[in-house]
Amino acid sequence: MPKLISVLNGPNLNLLGLRQPEIYGTETLDDVAAAMSELAEDLGLAIRFLQSNHEGQLIDWIQEARGKSAGIIINPAAYSHTSIGILDALNAYDGPVLEVHISNIHKREPFRHHSYISQRADGVIAGFGTQGYSLALRRMASLVGSK
Ligand code: DQA
Repeated sequence: MPKLISVLNGPNLNLLGLRQPEIYGTETLDDVAAAMSELAEDLGLAIRFLQSNHEGQLIDWIQEARGKSAGIIINPAAYSHTSIGILDALNAYDGPVLEVHISNIHKREPFRHHSYISQRADGVIAGFGTQGYSLALRRMASLVGSK
């Protein structure tokens, strides 16, 4: 049985490809999901790829990952900078957590420079565009001992 990785996406990422393409690029979230599924198969992993605009929904998915997902890759989007609730949920999760940002949050407005989630994340990728998701999945494969 391939190990399951939860890939969670926060608010406004449903608009990827349409929203500020000069910052986030032209690929859609469906494109990212498709590329991740393909790569997961190569890596001997299974993924659950989800997006929500609602903080509580993201927290529910993190709680559901307990005992089911071998790792979590999360782009918490704007909630990175505000959500102690998402941080607490991740702190109650045992497996590796990787945080992804499509843009380089450190090159942007000062309010994006701090992420609550980074306090829990085992690794952070920012500014690699949507390629950051694939890089995070490769790293996750090493962390959970897949090929
Ligand atoms: C983001 C960066 C956040 O600051 C922003 O609120 C997002 C996306 C990124 O992927 O670059 O919505 O997480």
